Amino acid sequence: MKTQVLVTGGTGYIGSHTAVELIEEGFDVVIIDNLSNSQESVLDGIEKITGVRPAFEKFDLCEREKVKAFFQRYPRIEAIIHFAALKAVGESVKKPLEYYRNNLVSLINLLECMKGNVLKNFIFSSSCTVYGQPDVLPVTEKAPVKKALSPYGNTKQIAEEIIQDYLASCADDLRCISLRYFNPIGAHPSALIGELPTGVPQNLVPFVTQTAIGIHSELKVFGNDYNTPDGTCIRDYIYVMDLAKAHVAALKRLLENKHKSPFEVFNLGTGKGLSVLEIITTFEKVTGVKLNYRFAPRREGDIEKIWADPSLANRELGWKAETSLEDTLLSAWKWEKYIRGKNN
Ligand code: UD1
Repeated sequence: MKTQVLVTGGTGYIGSHTAVELIEEGFDVVIIDNLSNSQESVLDGIEKITGVRPAFEKFDLCEREKVKAFFQRYPRIEAIIHFAALKAVGESVKKPLEYYRNNLVSLINLLECMKGNVLKNFIFSSSCTVYGQPDVLPVTEKAPVKKALSPYGNTKQIAEEIIQDYLASCADDLRCISLRYFNPIGAHPSALIGELPTGVPQNLVPFVTQTAIGIHSELKVFGNDYNTPDGTCIRDYIYVMDLAKAHVAALKRLLENKHKSPFEVFNLGTGKGLSVLEIITTFEKVTGVKLNYRFAPRREGDIEKIWADPSLANRELGWKAETSLEDTLLSAWKWEKYIRGKNN
C-alpha cells in the first residue's frame, strides 16, 4: 500500500508542485486547504500532470475539531508536509494577529494530532527570512536566527521553536525537518500549475511576467543603491520543482529513519546569489521580451543580500538544485502565457 502523506496548503504554489512530485514518486497524497489564497481548480492541474486526483478536504486548520475529525477519517497518514500559511510580508505588518493566529494555531492543531499513532513525521515550510541580513554569506544553518523584520517572519521563527519544544516534550519518537526556502520561482514545465498571486503580486518574478504580458505598465526595481555589484538586492532564486524534490528527499529521510536528530534544519537554495537586474536581463534574453522597468526607492524591510550555503542539504538529503535560471524563467513565462490564454 502506498504511504499516505498529508500536504497542507496543497493547492498553493509550493504545495501543488510538491504534491505532483510526491504522486510521481508513488505517495498517496491527501490535501487540506482552505482555499484562502488558492483555487480548487489547481487539483485539475495536478490530475492532468500525474493522472491522479489527490483526495481534497477544504477546511481551516485553525478549527481544532475539524483537524481532529480529519485524522480520525485518515488514520493511515504517516507524514505531514505543512505548507498552509499566510505569507505576505507587508500584509503581516498590517494584520499581525491574523498572521500569528493563522500560522501558529494551525501548526499547534496539527502537532497535537500527531500523538499516539503512525503519524510521526513532520516537514515544515520555513524561510531564509529567519536569518535576517546574515553577517556571513553564503549563509549556513548555523547562522544565528535574527530578530524578525515582520510578523510573517516571526511566525516562522516561533513555529520552529514550538516544534522543537514539542518534540523535546514527548516520548513519541516524533521528528521534524524544517526546510528554509530561499526564493522559489518558476512553474511546472507543463504550465498546468504555477504561481497564482491574488491581486498585485508582491514578489519579483510574478511581477516580471505580468509586466511582460502587459498587465502592468512598468516594473519598479526597489533600490539601486545597495552595496552590491550593480546596486540592486541579491537573492537566491530556486526553481520550484527543485524545491518540490527536496521535500520528497526530506520525507524519505524521515520515513527511512535516516535523520540524525529529531529536529533538523536544511537550507534550500542554489548557492548562487543573483541581483534583481540579473533576473531582468536573463528574463529578457531567454524570452526575447523587453521589460519596461525603472529604479524606485528601496522597499521597506528588504534585506540587501542573501544566498544559501546548501551543502548540508546536498550532502544529507542527496539533493541539489539543478535547473538553470534560464529554464526556470522560461517556465514562469510559459505559465504566465498559459493563464492569460496565450499559448505561444
Ligand atoms: C519575501 C520575504 C520572504 C518570504 C517571501 C515570500 C522579505 C525580506 N522576504 O522574499 O521572507 O518568504 O517574500 O513570498 O520580506 N523586487 C523589486 N520589484 C518588485 C518586487 C520585488 O525590485 O516589484 C525586488 C525586491 O526588492 C527583492 C527581490 O526583488 O530585492 C525579491 O523580492 P521578493 O520576490 O518579494 O522576495 P523577498 O523579498 O526576497
